[in-house]
Amino acid sequence: MAILIKNGTIVTALDTQVGDVRCAEGQIVEIGVGLNSIAGEETIDASGQYIFPGGLDPHVHMELPFMGTVSADDFETGTAAGVAGGTTSIIDFVIPGRGDNLMEALAAWHEKASKSVADFAFHMAVTWWGDETASWMQNCVEEQGIPSFKTFMAYRGAIGVSDEELIEVMKAARALNAMVTVHAEHGDMVVELQNRLMAEGKTGPEYHARSRPAPLEGEATARAIMLARMTREPLYIVHVTCVQALEAIREAQARGQRVHGETCPQYLLLDDSVYKKPGFEGAAAVMSPPIRPRGHQEPLWAALRTGTLEVVATDHCPFNLVGQKDMGKDDFRKIPNGAAGIEHRLALMYTYGVLEGRLDLNQFVDVTSTRAAKLFGLYPRKGSITVGADADLVVWDPAATGTISAETHHHKVDRSIFEGFETRGGCSSVIVNGRVQYADGQLSVERGAGRYLPRTLA
Ligand code: URP
Ligand code: ZN
Ligand code: ZN
Repeated sequence: MAILIKNGTIVTALDTQVGDVRCAEGQIVEIGVGLNSIAGEETIDASGQYIFPGGLDPHVHMELPFMGTVSADDFETGTAAGVAGGTTSIIDFVIPGRGDNLMEALAAWHEKASKSVADFAFHMAVTWWGDETASWMQNCVEEQGIPSFKTFMAYRGAIGVSDEELIEVMKAARALNAMVTVHAEHGDMVVELQNRLMAEGKTGPEYHARSRPAPLEGEATARAIMLARMTREPLYIVHVTCVQALEAIREAQARGQRVHGETCPQYLLLDDSVYKKPGFEGAAAVMSPPIRPRGHQEPLWAALRTGTLEVVATDHCPFNLVGQKDMGKDDFRKIPNGAAGIEHRLALMYTYGVLEGRLDLNQFVDVTSTRAAKLFGLYPRKGSITVGADADLVVWDPAATGTISAETHHHKVDRSIFEGFETRGGCSSVIVNGRVQYADGQLSVERGAGRYLPRTLA
């Protein structure tokens, strides 16, 4: 199938120009001005609209077995929701249980992900260190196209690692020229605070946030950075939420250390009043790290604008309030951590980033697509509008308006943490691998059409 997108304002991370983009055989084949349509080619008139590279979300958890349940979007529904919002590829995390064989976990993830409607890649989580871990990591990098590893400093007793284990992961990753990514919270202290609050009879969702205060994220971020410095390993810190973590990242970057930071729309746009909702509704926003008090959000925006933070991902990991989150009705420690976000990342970042003057359009493209593609070895195939790149493109109507609601979203979950948020700008067409998969508000995705994206780092 061939498509000619005409007269759009083509926006990349670098520049902005009016022109046409031709796609054929799943790739971008021509970019120019005044291109003539070829017989049989579908034409999309993008006059007055933007053409962005498809969004890349490098932090999602589809169908993740976690905290006694499984995240509610599988690879099909989750990637479809992404496409509806302009995200055309994802990087999910293979997360083996403690003691599990990493390669067997990878096989299980490939099986689950074969339903994806859009292209996908994996990071590998190293959740424990044993005799075979280094060779599994080598296999991931050299044979499986997975040059990035995830570690959790939180979730002690489950998938979290000790400092000793984290150091081993960093050393092994360094030898393999791979990237370590880290969820930074002081896991042991979180457990101590959780137990203290529960002993005081403080069982509701608001105490989830109280058990994981910002200084514990700041401390763990600084510690991970120090371990990365000593092992000379580049580090990518996922879901940064607070000024304490920003300070640690800024300090490391100022001395020349290769430290990259990611945040998510929920940490930019929500504050901890989400936990004070009536009844058990606050549980919908139980995630780790938690949503922070007012005061952290503008510094996160400023850090994105100035480049301290480079990527906006979603940490998409939805759980239904009814039937999943309510496992923790009497004990906030049992509320599955996570929320949905993949569908609305671009609309939220455009509305509250670009239109509020916090980011320019090129920065918007960079943080939602290009930078992650570069950092994780997918560029220029993804994250770019260049001849030879995959034809993953978003035609973006700046005049579109919307209101986010669980009633209308494509996420397979019963709540939206952004319920009632107004958005301006939205996808009019989304092209995935050279095929229009979303147009005029309708999805026409194909289960299993997504391809695995093996990666290498330069
Ligand atoms: O609460 C969260 N973030 N759930 C998903 C797992 C993780 O920590 O990223
Ligand atoms: Zn995490
Ligand atoms: Zn996550």
